[in-house]
Amino acid sequence: MPIQEFSFFTDGLQPGQREHHEYVTHTNLDDEKLWIPYVDGAWFQACSFNVSTGGFTNVLKIAPGAKLPAHYHISTVYGYTLRGTWHYLEHDWVAKPGTFIYEPAGEAHTLVVPEDAPEPMVTFFVVSAGLIYIDNVENGKMVGYDDGFTMLELARKHYRNVGLDLSLIDAMIR
Ligand SMILES: [Fe+2]
Repeated sequence: MPIQEFSFFTDGLQPGQREHHEYVTHTNLDDEKLWIPYVDGAWFQACSFNVSTGGFTNVLKIAPGAKLPAHYHISTVYGYTLRGTWHYLEHDWVAKPGTFIYEPAGEAHTLVVPEDAPEPMVTFFVVSAGLIYIDNVENGKMVGYDDGFTMLELARKHYRNVGLDLSLIDAMIR
């Protein structure tokens, strides 16, 4: 779930320990164990954690009838839909496989997957910096926060819980 309090505001590595070379990571959309729980009905598979900008990239999965609560972004977001359909309550377009989206900083939205959708939506997101969860898009009162550090904390927690190799997550830190 979006973090309201977190104990962890470094990546746990000294600057000299951070890697700079290229890497690849292999997501597997059909491996249930790899999906890191996020909010109710939403999971992600991590692709990168940028501890210089607070950004992150991931593949997000959201079940029919579930949503990501209202939030806004403090930097740009790029998204590419792989499976299913979804939309923002605040816009009139509908994303489907092949849909690319660009979002500027300040974009506030509530991501919804229709109750009657035949499958979960799966979308690859490049999130350049943190996002602020708000009570609603009209009021804008902060209720939660996430960024590359909090997502890293969630990922490590899940990998620990299910016995996956933590070094696979740490290898994504840049
Ligand atoms: Fe968003």
